[in-house]
Amino acid sequence: MINVRHQAELIGKTDLLRIHSLSELTGCNIWLKCEFQNPGGSIKDRAALQMVRDAMARGELKSGMTIVEGTAGNTGIGLALVAKSFGMQMMAVMPNDQAREKERVLELYGAKLMTVDPCPFSNPNHFYHRARHLAEQHKDHWWANQFENPSNFRAHYLNTGPEIWQQLSGRVDILVASAGTGGTIAGTSSYLKEQNPEVQVWLVDPDGSGLYSYLKTGEFSGHGSSMTEGIGIMRLVENFRRARVDRAVNLPDLDILTLSRHVRHKDGIVLGSSSALNVAGALCAAIQTGPGKDIVTFACDLGERSASKLYSPEYLQQRGLLDYPRDVSQLMKKYATDQWRDKIVHCAEGG
Ligand SMILES: Cc1ncc(COP(=O)(O)O)c(C=O)c1O
Repeated sequence: MINVRHQAELIGKTDLLRIHSLSELTGCNIWLKCEFQNPGGSIKDRAALQMVRDAMARGELKSGMTIVEGTAGNTGIGLALVAKSFGMQMMAVMPNDQAREKERVLELYGAKLMTVDPCPFSNPNHFYHRARHLAEQHKDHWWANQFENPSNFRAHYLNTGPEIWQQLSGRVDILVASAGTGGTIAGTSSYLKEQNPEVQVWLVDPDGSGLYSYLKTGEFSGHGSSMTEGIGIMRLVENFRRARVDRAVNLPDLDILTLSRHVRHKDGIVLGSSSALNVAGALCAAIQTGPGKDIVTFACDLGERSASKLYSPEYLQQRGLLDYPRDVSQLMKKYATDQWRDKIVHCAEGG
């Protein structure tokens, strides 16, 4: 009997795929949680569904209302499809420097889209504040607030973490993740460490984000910039605050290029930019900790959401990024150096 009532019920229960090429090279099992299998194409479907379900249970959100969210795109796409399942509308506020691919998908899902100029968080025109204002102005609008909303954490604590634990029958040595709101790393790390406090959690942070420096010095400061989207934060938000992190590493866009080409060529997986960063982080963790480990990371979305940046020769030329190491063994050598080891932040008490 077919009993799927709506698309939102297809969210989660994603596969775990072994990245053969990197597993063979490192002697570790490097596992990829295939979050692109979610119906909206990204890991953010999970947070979207949990935020909506919890708000409906509290009576804050009802069918006929409009969900508003400031988003780099993927959370908006997730909310748009969940909104349809529950008879709601979706309004996404997005900075206009994100890959156009995501704007198009949002519109295909029937979301209304407001794009704004990128600006610092302190500016009232920041997409986060604009979304909040919209909700304040309209009684039938509900602001999801993915950065501060604990349902985002719950999505991963209740689902992503348990799925990984079951899929690997508890054989998890290391979890590697980047953070946008921190929901993924916080919820998953909390669940896994409850099962086994020895699970080591690595945060991988792109250039331009302040999380690496925050974990190193207690201060948010970033250097440079990154082509990655949906990840990197310059302030402490509630979801990231709950993350239980043991190690933090900052990796440049050049590593994302080397890694994404390697995995595309050897394994046939076309990773999105945050996913390529995650896998580079997993490679770094494998090299630093030695063979025999089971290391899990996330394919948050696929390269089709990054086509106009990560896979565009014109874009890479404009950014001066064409001169990246072509061979992944160069990355492996770099990650094995003492100089590199010294850059890895050891965090106090896993969190
Ligand atoms: C492609 C992609 N990767 C990673 C993340 C980060 O996930 P989280 O917000 O759970 O930290 C996001 C968030 O929007 C994303 O869009």
